[in-house]
Amino acid sequence: MKKDTDFIDGLLGRMTLSEKIGQLNLVTPGGETLTGTVVNTDVAEKIKTGRIGGIFGVKSAEAVRVFQDLAQETRLKIPLFFAEDVIHGQKTIFPLPLALAASWDMDLVRATARVAAQEAASIGIDQVYSPMVDVCRDPRWGRIAESPGEDPFLASRFAEAMVEGYQGGDLSRPDAVMACLKHFCGYGGGMGGRDYDAVDLSPATLHDVVLPPFVAGLRAGAGSIMASFNTLNGVPMHANRAVITELFREKLGYEGLVVADYTGILELIAHGVASDRADAARLGLSAGVDLDMVSETYLDTLEQSVKAGLIGEAEITAACRRVLEAKLKLGLFDDPYHRLDWGRAAQPILTAANRKLAREAVAAATVLLKNDGELLPLPEPKSGKIGSIALIGPFVEDRVNMNGTWAVAGSPSTVVPIADGLREAVGNAVGITIAKGANIVDESWLATRLNVHDWKDLSVVIDIRSPEAMISEAVAAAMASDVTVAVIGEAREYSGESSSRTDLSIPEPQKKLLRALKATGKPLVVVVMTGRPLSLAEETLLADALLVAWFGGTEIGHGLADVLLGKAEPSGRLPATFPYCVGQVPVTYAHRPTGRPTPGRFQKFTSGYVDLPDDVAQNDGLYPFGFGLGYGKVAYGPPRANRTKLSGDDRLEMTLTVTNLGDLPTSETVQLYIGDPVASVSRPVKELKAFRKVALAPHAAATVSFVITAEDLDFSVAETVTDTRRRAESGAFDIHVGPNSRDTQMVRIIWDGPQSGGKRS
Ligand code: NOJ
Repeated sequence: MKKDTDFIDGLLGRMTLSEKIGQLNLVTPGGETLTGTVVNTDVAEKIKTGRIGGIFGVKSAEAVRVFQDLAQETRLKIPLFFAEDVIHGQKTIFPLPLALAASWDMDLVRATARVAAQEAASIGIDQVYSPMVDVCRDPRWGRIAESPGEDPFLASRFAEAMVEGYQGGDLSRPDAVMACLKHFCGYGGGMGGRDYDAVDLSPATLHDVVLPPFVAGLRAGAGSIMASFNTLNGVPMHANRAVITELFREKLGYEGLVVADYTGILELIAHGVASDRADAARLGLSAGVDLDMVSETYLDTLEQSVKAGLIGEAEITAACRRVLEAKLKLGLFDDPYHRLDWGRAAQPILTAANRKLAREAVAAATVLLKNDGELLPLPEPKSGKIGSIALIGPFVEDRVNMNGTWAVAGSPSTVVPIADGLREAVGNAVGITIAKGANIVDESWLATRLNVHDWKDLSVVIDIRSPEAMISEAVAAAMASDVTVAVIGEAREYSGESSSRTDLSIPEPQKKLLRALKATGKPLVVVVMTGRPLSLAEETLLADALLVAWFGGTEIGHGLADVLLGKAEPSGRLPATFPYCVGQVPVTYAHRPTGRPTPGRFQKFTSGYVDLPDDVAQNDGLYPFGFGLGYGKVAYGPPRANRTKLSGDDRLEMTLTVTNLGDLPTSETVQLYIGDPVASVSRPVKELKAFRKVALAPHAAATVSFVITAEDLDFSVAETVTDTRRRAESGAFDIHVGPNSRDTQMVRIIWDGPQSGGKRS
């Protein structure tokens, strides 16, 4: 008979206090990629004595089985659960989360998570530490690579799709894994773009910008969340009872697990809110953090704190119940080994179907920023219109960087390098000459930092040749070819955890290379590998065609060749603003107006920067949120509203026609934004409220409709973090529709509703 909650009640009744505390201890045995300085010891012994509830970072089915066997030796035989940092794929690595968000294709996002779940589950993984849904408007922060970008609406759709993909509708399925929404919350807004740094947010911004993706993930049924390392308005999230328990659990109805981040409970001491380990554990548990990751403060101190009357056993029982309920949902009490299917383990990993999806994801995520003279796609190889390509740059033969950050189980050996993909695609029809051209960076101290995981593979290798010699070789290759494709950008560990940057430029040696390639006069395609929005002002001038390929993962070589040769269209749209320069960040299209808005160019006594050139948008980036070109030529018809007034439960339908005037098929991401020009508080100039990615055959048109209701018009009026009141205010609203957040057409409507609401949280 399937175990149920009565079973959990019975089990809890038989557990000692120390066995309950044991369930709250989450450890890593170490040995692989670590994200902190502390590692747990004596893991086997602790399992046998009932002092561990779950393990993360175990990389093989064999190891999972060994640990699970040990748990079966304990008095109550409570199974362990196994977690892993599966962030954008397990073995088949998909483009980075930021890149997947750039696809604006939630079916694709869901499908990648499904594949990741199947691969991970097949080695016994029960829970993945993904999706990360931290909204981020400061690309100095390296972890923007793991996030869905700057916008709460896009991030919310991403959160739902990822949760649905991982959990597959039923957590007890052997190929389903529990999703973990992270990092709860505010982590994307650290001071100065620095990782782990303090976050100060108004309650309304918390509710309107930071929380929506977590709420969307909750509604999609996410089984767990992870606390974030930052303080929020002075209170470290690992001690933040108001936000975790009073708001998320009690008011918003979250019933799942709350996991600490790596030593996050112990770090309450360094944050200056706990005096010692016992104090830290007490604060963490009281805040509502069920599982203590790595620091073992719960294990060491909670029993004593109960005896001393500092904490009630009921709180420990409640946390333990949530851990046991998670194991129940995961089907582990019925069969602790059911994900660990030895026959299946060999099958779903890196299959042709998984690789095909990864290949398609590359094109869907790649963003075309510029395409002068329709240089792209390059002519069909057998057409005779192109004889040779110079393929230049430090990434063209690379495997190590291609998976990007947080691909802990992904192996460079399975990556299709860009050079291999392009060679395969052109066959003998087109000659390809390869040259490295430049180091990713020239500074050895920086290379050492970027090679942080160098026990595995080096991602930055400084060439023994001089920079001049490398550039000469590249220039000679370009001169001898019809077109140059230069692949430049960041090393993979330039973004990710603890990888903030003070500069958002392409490293100087690669800029020098581009200048030299431009001087050859040959048509120049520039492909940018990056985990963050970069400032690409100079590259925009130098390139004839400019593509942002992010880090594309296992199938980058095939996927990028498809894009370059037009077998697939680069249909990505920017999920975050690309600034003109680092001085503009934090930056978002959804900024509030100022009392002195900048006109397009600098004007004294208006908001803006005195040192930006006249042709540069002052508050926006170089490339706005939502921007991206395609291989078609899309014209937007005028947007029409079926009514211009709405109230109560009315639905307003907005319709427009998009037409592909070009000769190639294309897909267009039609975006709808709403602005609230007069309200009781100054509202963002525009906010994304809907989008639709539509396929358009050559010379075909499609009609796109969006439905707007009062829920699209309201905003938070929170005065405290636990205040969930929202309000839609009567008056004018501007509905903007267009291909990106900047180039929109506008229709004004009137909402004639009640002045105050509180309809939804
Ligand atoms: C620290 C990171 O912040 C988190 O995202 C990750 O899941 C844990 N380490 C576990 O590796």
